[in-house]
Amino acid sequence: DEIEKAGYPHFMLKEIFEQPKALADCLRGRINPKKGTVQLGGVADVMDQIVKANRIVIAACGTSWHSALVGEYLFEYLAKAPVEVEYASEFRYRDPLIGEGDVLLVISQSGETADTLAALREARERGALVLGICNVVGSTISRETDAGVFTHAGPEIGVASTKAFTAQVVVLTMMALELAMRKGTITKEKAKKYIKELDQIPGKVEQILKECDETTREMARLFTYAPNFLYLGRSYNFPVALEGALKLKEISYIHAEGYPAAEMKHGPIALIDEMMPVVVIAATDHTNDKMISNIEEVKARKGRIISIMNKENSDVEELSEFSISIPSTYDCFSPLLTVIPLQLLSYYIAVNRGCNVDQPRNLAKSVTVE
Ligand code: G6P
Repeated sequence: DEIEKAGYPHFMLKEIFEQPKALADCLRGRINPKKGTVQLGGVADVMDQIVKANRIVIAACGTSWHSALVGEYLFEYLAKAPVEVEYASEFRYRDPLIGEGDVLLVISQSGETADTLAALREARERGALVLGICNVVGSTISRETDAGVFTHAGPEIGVASTKAFTAQVVVLTMMALELAMRKGTITKEKAKKYIKELDQIPGKVEQILKECDETTREMARLFTYAPNFLYLGRSYNFPVALEGALKLKEISYIHAEGYPAAEMKHGPIALIDEMMPVVVIAATDHTNDKMISNIEEVKARKGRIISIMNKENSDVEELSEFSISIPSTYDCFSPLLTVIPLQLLSYYIAVNRGCNVDQPRNLAKSVTVE
């Protein structure tokens, strides 16, 4: 056990710090930044079918469901493809409207989650093309799908998923880019720029891990005993707000909610007082002005602002009690960066609270019951 942790006190921390390598492994041999190409061998034979699909449904559970939500934004923005995201458990029991000409994409780290597997079988029976994004090679889901892409993030032991999430988002980004190029929804030059940037992401993750480790520890010390947390994000970073809240809940047992920032005024705002830390993910340029208004609404009610923001965003920084800046990137790639400090924050809070980080109570790494 100790050898496998490679000097880290927990698998979760090791896996957080492994992300630069995991993402580089995930990209290796699949993108060519010089030529501006993406090649996903596992779905090459069905790419034409995906291009022609009436619609794409993505089904998953837990953290993988959050990466599916990021995927929805990516597929729609880059490839103009109609996408719906479903909880696997809801999809399968709803007599789903899916059939020939549709694509079901399932996402699962373990490849064994019972509800996700059942959704896959249901869609295949109804004639849909079924694709998978899995981490565990040889897993049931990866064997039963028609085609798929492995994340190659390496074994993930900590129950709370970290590197598998970012690797799933990287795969979804590559799929969206390949689809966009095939459909002609982005130009060759634009695609090349995106692919060059995607190639830089592992390095940027590395930079964040170096730069924000100390600040997240400091934040964790201050907020260890907060009874509640609220996470707000917009656009691509709304799913990151959900994921940040889930990470905290899972390992520290603090109640946390993720919300699309604008929805705050339809409920959660009633909870805000000086006891409520609000984590604001303000790193999506095209919605930043609106985020600043949300921050002001929180501050007017004495909520305490922790922000994840783009470098040199002095407006956000001034309004925040703590802020962590991330290197600049395209808005649509920002979830790969903004989620990193949130993983660390939940980890350090859980450690301070003496929680069993790698094996939280009541949770399992892979849920094989329906
Ligand atoms: C469990 C794990 C989560 C995971 C979810 C889905 O709840 O604790 O970390 O996100 O299952 O698992 P999968 O293997 O299908 O991605």
